[in-house]
Amino acid sequence: DVRLVPQRFVAQDGRDVWSSNVVKMPCSPSSSMVKSGWTGSGPVERWKVISKHLGALSSRSEADVADVQKAIMKYNPKYEKQWLFDSLASFVKVIPKEDNYLPSLFPKMAALALKLPEHVKKAIPLLSAGRTAAVTLSQVQISCLLANAFFCTFPHRNACGAHTEYWGLPSINFTSLFGKTSQRKRQKLRAIMQYFKEVTDSPPRGLVTFERRCLSNAELPDWTSSKKKLLQLHVTSQGSIEDDGVGMLQVDFAASLVGGGVLNSGLLQEEILFLIHPELIVSRLFTERLGDNECLIITGCQKFSIYSGFGDRFEWVGPCVDSVGRDEWFRLQRQIVAMDALHFKHPSEQYDVRKVQRELNKAYCGFKKVGAGEPDVATGKWGCGAFNGEPQLKALIQLMAAAEAGRGLAFFTFRDEKTKRDVEQMYKLLVREDVTVGQLYALIQDYCRLRTHGGSGVDLLQFITLRSSRSQL
Ligand code: APR
Repeated sequence: DVRLVPQRFVAQDGRDVWSSNVVKMPCSPSSSMVKSGWTGSGPVERWKVISKHLGALSSRSEADVADVQKAIMKYNPKYEKQWLFDSLASFVKVIPKEDNYLPSLFPKMAALALKLPEHVKKAIPLLSAGRTAAVTLSQVQISCLLANAFFCTFPHRNACGAHTEYWGLPSINFTSLFGKTSQRKRQKLRAIMQYFKEVTDSPPRGLVTFERRCLSNAELPDWTSSKKKLLQLHVTSQGSIEDDGVGMLQVDFAASLVGGGVLNSGLLQEEILFLIHPELIVSRLFTERLGDNECLIITGCQKFSIYSGFGDRFEWVGPCVDSVGRDEWFRLQRQIVAMDALHFKHPSEQYDVRKVQRELNKAYCGFKKVGAGEPDVATGKWGCGAFNGEPQLKALIQLMAAAEAGRGLAFFTFRDEKTKRDVEQMYKLLVREDVTVGQLYALIQDYCRLRTHGGSGVDLLQFITLRSSRSQL
């Protein structure tokens, strides 16, 4: 399952080096340095500076935001005028005095960050575009990597000023969360600091696997000729994917750079998922932008927080005791698939067969089974919020992809009663008529033609109902 890093990218003994095929760590020695026993300036020198300042922080019993800022700016001097810390400072102020765990937490986090050379000895491969590959990390390694992200130690991995070499990778340093204060950021920081509090108090002991799945054209279904029939569907307006889809493959309504705006102001389904399971954030360290036939599957991440609300109403409610069992790899039995829908500037753009096909392939890539006994999928209005998709069409696309992959669907409409009724009705009709995926594809093609010729007054359900009444399904 774990793809080993090809030998030419790492030192002979598999140790980490500074190379563009693996994650460049703040403490990575360059390959030429490894060979020559080099001692000059460069990444090694920077790690010395980091060690000095985080070391000083870690040796204290208490530290405040000004101390954290001072340390971070010592090894990021070129951002002196750009990086702000008002958000972190205002977050600290809203924590009730009696449970202000932060002053003692900052030193513990600095100590954890400094354990990087000890915890992560081998190079972490990049999950690069166009290749199926997996990385498995222990939860302790993840906590150490995220502590480094918090202290902004990763070279060239900031939201602003990203080096061109890194354009295809998400940002990982937490700088954007620390400045430009807002209620959103305060709540986000509560969830993130809760995570650090728990992992520094009692280090978690499991593993987490991150698998980038890339399907070749030959592996994609021929939608026009598919004879597959729709499988089971359960639609509900109650509950959420992450709470009520336990034990199922849970869909992350992702951005192509996984995690979307989690380290900035974004607070929609994906960002919330990343905040309550912060280990997901580490995927940003090594997952290049997802292509049309790719997705990222994460197995084993832990839930650390409970929340309420969505967007501006998001609130951190409290810590969570994760009661999910573990598999034979000691991974928590939670599987999440990050799949990015198309972002339509205008909803009318989605009624284009090529775009429908792209969405079918993307959903199929996410839902494809690799073995027997894989669970059904927990999903919902994928691509229908920030990305402007239409729920009836997206539900049908996901049903078709699930049928092709051999999985049932649980569809959470997230309190949207109309979509619940529409999707249920559409499903009943299609199952009654015993349609195949290929017939549905042809039907969507007809519907797209209607929409591009001005038939915007008829929704997909009405169109299907009409065709059914004329026995034209
Ligand atoms: N469970 C089920 N449904 C949910 C949940 C949840 N936990 N959270 C939200 N929803 C519903 C809401 O009705 C929401 O409007 O899913 C809809 C779509 O959610 P979005 O997050 O807007 O998804 P999408 O349109 O795919 O936008 C993706 O948003 O979060 C960013 O990084 C992400 O850039 C990407 C974009």
